[in-house]
Amino acid sequence: MFALKDLVDTLREHSLQNNKNHEIEWEFAEETVPFDEVAFSKMQSDLLAFLVTENFPATMEKEDLVIELIVTQVEKLSGSKFQDLLKIVDINLGEEYLRTEGKKWKSHKLKEMKEHGLVYIELINQHSSETIGFFSMKLVFDNDVLCVYLYEIQLLKEYTGLKIGSELMRHFHKLPGLINIGPEANEDRPLDDEDEDMDDEYKSEIADLRSEKEQERMEFLKNYGKVEGCSLTVFTKNERALKFYQGLGYIKADHSPRDKKLRNGRVVQPDYYILFNFL
Ligand SMILES: CC(C)(COP(=O)(O)OP(=O)(O)OC[C@H]1O[C@@H](n2cnc3c(N)ncnc32)[C@H](O)[C@@H]1OP(=O)(O)O)[C@@H](O)C(=O)NCCC(=O)NCCS
Repeated sequence: MFALKDLVDTLREHSLQNNKNHEIEWEFAEETVPFDEVAFSKMQSDLLAFLVTENFPATMEKEDLVIELIVTQVEKLSGSKFQDLLKIVDINLGEEYLRTEGKKWKSHKLKEMKEHGLVYIELINQHSSETIGFFSMKLVFDNDVLCVYLYEIQLLKEYTGLKIGSELMRHFHKLPGLINIGPEANEDRPLDDEDEDMDDEYKSEIADLRSEKEQERMEFLKNYGKVEGCSLTVFTKNERALKFYQGLGYIKADHSPRDKKLRNGRVVQPDYYILFNFL
């Protein structure tokens, strides 16, 4: 008899405990704010565009070349500009895209290039006004890790090997620190000295903008946490780019497709790797 009563009591206790657990979960769920993709995308794009404008140089000089850097949020790029940029991707990697994605690769690529929240840097030869390449990026949660994702780095062939890519990446790699720590993460840039020649009204407008953006940065950090590093996708067959990224400290991300060794010893490579650089 007693044994049965004990069992009933135990079951009652369990059921009470379960209900309590449910209540706790339910209360927790009620407090959890669902991830607002649109709000995140807008916030990261505005912050990123500002940080890129402030911290990348306006021009880069390589030998007798002067390259202008024009920073634009994706929403402000025209249809014909996308076509120009797509042409550069086609010249550089069209064959590889055709091989891996088939005939519709251009429409897929265009869709990706127009993705909401992207920030572009167009690279222009100041002498000829020709677009010589571009760089595009976005803050994303990739596999739950917040990182600055490099969507494209593309230079026309005659402009490669001049360390333009290396210099762009050096500035790109400062972005996680600039979001996590703030302007002091940029050792390169004497923010105040540069403003010496400006008139006072302009100086005060810039100071207001910087403090507004500093608030946005803090808000972003509070809402989404720290940026872990930089990430990108590279074709396995793009040996030059792979060497370039490896030299900059990139390693294969845990969630990257991997080489597979078959039983006959042959190694099958995936079409692409996802690389990560913890910064
Ligand atoms: C990949 C790319 C962005 C590199 O930029 P870049 O300005 O040409 O590169 P840099 O001059 O800064 O060179 C940096 C490193 O890249 C590698 N690299 C550059 N040119 C190379 C070449 N012709 N062959 C092999 N490796 C090369 C080297 O490791 C080099 O370092 P090193 O000079 O100390 O040996 C550029 O070549 C490019 O736009 N290529 C075509 C598009 C592309 O493949 N984009 C990458 C998509 S994921």
